[in-house]
Parts: sequence; C-alpha cells; structure tokens
Amino acid sequence: MKMDSSWRKESFCAQQTWEAGYALGQKAFSGQVIELIGDLGVGKTVFTQGFAAGLGIKDAVNSPTFTILQVYEDGRIPMYHFDVYRIGDSEEMLEIGWEDYVYGDGVCLIEWADQIEDLIGEIPAEKVMRVEIRKDLSKGTDYREILGRIPAASGDEA
Ligand SMILES: Nc1ncnc2c1ncn2[C@@H]1O[C@H](COP(=O)(O)OP(=O)(O)OP(=O)(O)O)[C@@H](O)[C@H]1O
Ligand SMILES: [Mg+2]
Repeated sequence: MKMDSSWRKESFCAQQTWEAGYALGQKAFSGQVIELIGDLGVGKTVFTQGFAAGLGIKDAVNSPTFTILQVYEDGRIPMYHFDVYRIGDSEEMLEIGWEDYVYGDGVCLIEWADQIEDLIGEIPAEKVMRVEIRKDLSKGTDYREILGRIPAASGDEA
C-alpha cells in the first residue's frame, strides 16, 4: 500500500512561489493532474507560471479565467492550464473535452480544482497532486504557505 506523500513550503514573495512551481514543472509527467487550491489572488497563477517555465514553456502564461482552458505546447510535454472558477457544473468540463486532456499527453494544472472534485475523484490517485496555497496575514501580506500532497493510492493492490 502506498503512503500519502506530503510536503510544505513557505513563501515570502511571489518569486518564491514561482520557484516552487518551477521545481514541480521540472518533474512533471504526462497524465499528471495538479490541483491548485486557494483563495482569490493567493498565487495559483504565479505558481503555474513557474511550473510552465520548469517545463521549458516560453509562451507567456496568463490566467485563463474567461476561456477555462489554455494549452501550451512549446515545453517538454504539453501543459493544459484550467481555471474552473466560473464553471457551472462538471458537465461543462466534459463538453470542452476534459477527458482528452486528463488522459492525454500532457500535464493538467487546475486552478479552483475544488469546484470539480467529482471529476478529479475519477482520476487514478497516484496521478493527482494537490497543491494548496494559503495566506497567513499574521506573517505579512506576501507570506504564503504551500502545501503539497499526493493522495494514497486506493490500497486495493495491498
Ligand atoms: N508569496 C507570494 N506568492 C505568490 N504571489 C504573491 C506572493 N506575495 C505577493 N503575491 C502577489 O499575489 C498575487 C497573486 O496573483 P495570482 O494571479 O497568481 O493569484 P491567483 O490565485 O491565480 O488568483 P485567482 O484566484 O484570481 O486566479 C500577485 O499579484 C503576486 O505578485
Ligand atoms: Mg489565477
């Protein structure tokens, strides 16, 4: 049986959050799904920009809020950047071809992934990494805690 694997990083400026994304982008693999969880303006897009750079993507990465999905194909593997903040329901995700991306050649980064937990739950657990970014105003306006977790595999194999 596989164990949960978690990590925690503290970030004191946008650059450090960018670097946390960069490090993960270097290790990203096809079929991987990264859930980005956290409040408005916490740094999910900054993290994604670093992640893209870690994949070798040179195109400018911006928030895809009004398009739900942006595809970047100039890196080591494709990156599918979702922002599902405005998604109505999971049906809408299926309509834009969600399954082609999740079971495709690239890595998915999903801002506001907690909006589509039902769809995420269908993905094999070992492919999913949850990254939660939190503020702690007692430590300053630019402080962020970044919590990463790879959920345990189902345990059926044990
Ligand atoms: N430690 C930090 N890490 C990340 N961003 C920071 C940090 N300190 C300050 N910032 C600032 O916070 C903002 C984060 O914006 P960003 O667009 O990445 O947030 P977001 O979580 O994607 O928001 P949204 O929910 O609207 O998509 C940027 O303006 C960035 O410069
Ligand atoms: Mg964003």
